[in-house]
Amino acid sequence: MTIVARVDPLNPDEGVIERAAEVIRRGGLVAFPTETVYGLGANAYNKSSVLRIFEVKQRPADNPLIIHVDSLDMLHEVARDIPEEAYKLMSKFWPGPLTLVLPKTDRVPYEATGGLDTVAVRMPAHPVALRLISRAGVPIAAPSANLSGRPSPTRGEHVVEDLYSKVEMIIDGGETLYGVESTIVNLLVKPPVLLRPGAYPVEEIERVLGVRVHVPGFARGLSEAERALAPGMRYRHYAPETPLLLVETDRYDADGLARLTLKVAELASEFKEGKVCVLASKETLARYSGLGAEVLSLGSRSNLYEVAHNLFSALRKIDELGCRVAIAEGFPEQGLGLTIMNRLRKASSRRFFT
Ligand code: TXA
Ligand code: MG
Repeated sequence: MTIVARVDPLNPDEGVIERAAEVIRRGGLVAFPTETVYGLGANAYNKSSVLRIFEVKQRPADNPLIIHVDSLDMLHEVARDIPEEAYKLMSKFWPGPLTLVLPKTDRVPYEATGGLDTVAVRMPAHPVALRLISRAGVPIAAPSANLSGRPSPTRGEHVVEDLYSKVEMIIDGGETLYGVESTIVNLLVKPPVLLRPGAYPVEEIERVLGVRVHVPGFARGLSEAERALAPGMRYRHYAPETPLLLVETDRYDADGLARLTLKVAELASEFKEGKVCVLASKETLARYSGLGAEVLSLGSRSNLYEVAHNLFSALRKIDELGCRVAIAEGFPEQGLGLTIMNRLRKASSRRFFT
């Protein structure tokens, strides 16, 4: 049986937190909200609990987990030889959606790191997540709380959809703030490498480090060959069941957007049978009226936080609407746009350029 407990995300009921912490201590699984997406948590030190995460999510065993800590003391339990640059970033961005890849200590089982000698660690900026780690008294290994391959959950309902009856407890703290996962950086190489763009734009990380961060093709959601080399990057991710077509352009000015929306409309009109779904933006929404398509707005192109926040919900919505095909507009790859394009490219079955 799964306990589903609703809490006020900013001021969670201590009784619920204590009950969840008890589940973690006893080796069980708890899904909980973070400021990015919901996580599926287990005691990071307990091998069999960690293995159960992989089983429940149907996740490949070599795709490593992120370990969540509540303090620098706890960080030092799981990571060693931490470079100076890491402290620079942590003092600026922790608690928050930044994950650092660091050498692991012996306390972290290889089950959690996919066999690697490094560990991905972050300190979440969500009261429920932080209190849960503190009360449990152990670091919590937690991937996103979706079934492997599905869009990450940004609401309690999404977690219930994917994991009900498979875990001991789901803490429902409403909608998450960012709606996309943490930014993952590897500081153990020079120059540092962006392993996954996320809720903090890479430009902000570069500003604090004072050096350029290498953005490989796989971080942009491209380049299958390179992706095969990075842990956890080679699997199809975030994908709705409905085939998703992504339309990109090289310039997102008025002309570029005009071409892009024409292409989206042209593709939409090619499908004569069954419903077509369009993932648009506030600025372009009106251009698709009269197509008979189901048009969803992700938010304004001038506020990419809004677009990121709505993205995974929209990908789940496409399936709920029973569309035959979905067509999404692209976004420029600056700031959070890089994160949005990484997720859209990985979710898409085909890309078009205009
Ligand atoms: O925002 C987030 O990061 C969310 C919340 C729950 O904290 N978690 C999350 O976890 O997105 P997950 O499992 O969906 O993504 C973890 C990814 C792996 O797929 C892998 O790409 C990377 O983190 N990763 C983990 N350990 C690594 C390591 N030692 N070296 C390189 N990459 C690693
Ligand atoms: Mg995930």
